[in-house]
Amino acid sequence: MEIFTDKDLLQDSLIKQKLSGKTIGFVPTMGNLHDGHLSLVDIAEQKCDLTVVSIFVNPLQFGPNEDFDAYPRTLEADQQKLEDKNVDYLFLPTTNTIYPSGMEKHTKVEAIDSLTNKLCGASRPGHFLGVTTVVNILFNIVQPDVAVFGKKDFQQFMILKRMADDLCMPVDVIGADILREPNGLAMSSRNGYLSDIEKDHASHLRANIIAIQKQIEAGDSNYSSLENHAKQQLTREGFKVDYFNIVNQSTLEPATPSDKKLLIAAAAWLGQPRLIDNQEVNLM
Ligand code: PAF
Repeated sequence: MEIFTDKDLLQDSLIKQKLSGKTIGFVPTMGNLHDGHLSLVDIAEQKCDLTVVSIFVNPLQFGPNEDFDAYPRTLEADQQKLEDKNVDYLFLPTTNTIYPSGMEKHTKVEAIDSLTNKLCGASRPGHFLGVTTVVNILFNIVQPDVAVFGKKDFQQFMILKRMADDLCMPVDVIGADILREPNGLAMSSRNGYLSDIEKDHASHLRANIIAIQKQIEAGDSNYSSLENHAKQQLTREGFKVDYFNIVNQSTLEPATPSDKKLLIAAAAWLGQPRLIDNQEVNLM
């Protein structure tokens, strides 16, 4: 695995690879890699000749009271996992490499409001602006044919896919299924903030989503009542619910009874950590 911190050197090397006919799969990450990330690498490797992974904890996507400083940084272990997966390139930019004139003065790329102003975007103002901006910069450096993102962050995936389509970017943005712990908890770098007891308890988020999925599949389309029921249940179980919404999978607008492709999306705090999870529901 070749490791680059310099964006020009990485770009030179990748351009040579492209000119020799190689396709490039890209997995942007913030590190602290778990099996969920490695499943994205598997997809990139299946789809392309070469795989590039980036690790960059992007300060622009963290709010002032969020966990940027505490975000787990485990570079040595990450590097080993990527070596074991035979990843070809690892890109480790510094903040100065990504934002040479500082974050404030850097050009930003803003996705459409109707996708960014709800769910996680409602409680994390500026978060998606940080995500779309950094992913644009990374795409321009790496120039991938395929980029893979986890569907645990379903809203992020939809925003990035739409951004790539709207801006005619020559990249296929692919969403990968959520990988879960044996108790159902969606894998996440932030699960490391949970104690063992909290990890057990966190599985209730998933259990509530599944219970609502079953009710929807059984024909219940009173979505606001289902949402309220789930919120009350989670609150009783010790979560502080940020949102629990049943939405249209592609617009992320509240689902209507005529929608066939739904998403149950939830975010809730369990103590300090904020957990997110979702479930696609495809009705006949
Ligand atoms: O999902 C993440 O880890 C980040 O939001 C991403 C896409 C790497 C951008 O910083």
